[in-house]
Amino acid sequence: MDFVESVDVKSLPPGSHTVISINGKEVLLFNIDGEISTIGNICLHKGGPLSEGKVEKKYDGYYVTCPWHGWEYNVKTGAAPPGFGDQQALYDTLVKDNKIFVSALPRVLPLKAEHKDNPLQDLAELRYESTRSSLNILGISCTNMNQNLPRISTSDEALQDALEYGSEKYNASTVLLKLSDLEFRHCEGYYSRNEQACTWPCSISEMDSNDGMNEVYRKLILWADILVLSTPIRWGNASSLYYKMAERLNCVQNQITLQDRVLVKNKVASFIITGGQDNIQQVAGQMMVFFTELGFSLPPFAFVGWSRGWTAEDMEYNEKLFLKSRYVKRSVRDLIDNDMKLLRQLKGDPCVHIASPQPKISEAPSKIKIDND
Ligand code: FES
Repeated sequence: MDFVESVDVKSLPPGSHTVISINGKEVLLFNIDGEISTIGNICLHKGGPLSEGKVEKKYDGYYVTCPWHGWEYNVKTGAAPPGFGDQQALYDTLVKDNKIFVSALPRVLPLKAEHKDNPLQDLAELRYESTRSSLNILGISCTNMNQNLPRISTSDEALQDALEYGSEKYNASTVLLKLSDLEFRHCEGYYSRNEQACTWPCSISEMDSNDGMNEVYRKLILWADILVLSTPIRWGNASSLYYKMAERLNCVQNQITLQDRVLVKNKVASFIITGGQDNIQQVAGQMMVFFTELGFSLPPFAFVGWSRGWTAEDMEYNEKLFLKSRYVKRSVRDLIDNDMKLLRQLKGDPCVHIASPQPKISEAPSKIKIDND
């Protein structure tokens, strides 16, 4: 096998590692207690740089941990930890005249193991359940009440009215997801490490197939034709559960940025916003912008709001007045009627490709070569 001269032994003291290029491929040299080894630098998961990972003694040897989502590789063999079949490229290494030489080709080729029965296969392959003729209304409730002290939630009530109306008048299939029933992790900010580390399906979902957001992804992206999202107003904003979910939808928007791939097409979104006091338009504005950023279409008058104004601190009357309100009953129906009209238009002439004016990674300042002229 041909060997390629790399770095001086002195420049790689025990306990250190360094990345070099061999035949255009990034490889990672380690010195563990004087023993030098070389494996591929690019993580088999989503391409994270192992050179930026931590090296620790664990399991049956020393392992480097990918800084993006935590995949691990034995630094001497390139193998994944016991029980996993992934294999990083492994190069032969020798030392001659105080220089380190690395084989021109890997002795062991990289192998990403078949992860059989991938529980997220439907999401990965975007197996849409919505069709040209489907009529699926998804309600997402963002209220967060103590399940052991059940009481009326105005936003939930209005959402359930909307779903019942959609089912009765249009014979639509309806699903209600209550975020408070779903246990899901916060967005852990992989995007801010590297834009490519924020993946579809979400990297957190890949780590934990039981994460509650997986149900939201399935219903929202694959199943729904119409989304009706309800939230209470909390200090002038949507509920904290809403934001927790919205942050986890970065992986949907990010597909547009990274791959010019719009996952949400020909879907309608509308909103129900209720609060004891006001700020409805600000909450609606934020949600409307966010969901159009994902690809949803908005009907005219895309939200229903309920509040009793700045001085209405007499909350004990809020529920009663809400339940008696003819306005609420009528307006949630109008909301669904407008959703349906827009959906029919979309289904009549569905978009196959949607142009997205959002920034793309290929247009980012660091990706554009500056012409000195
Ligand atoms: S763990 Fe390395 S890229 Fe995901």
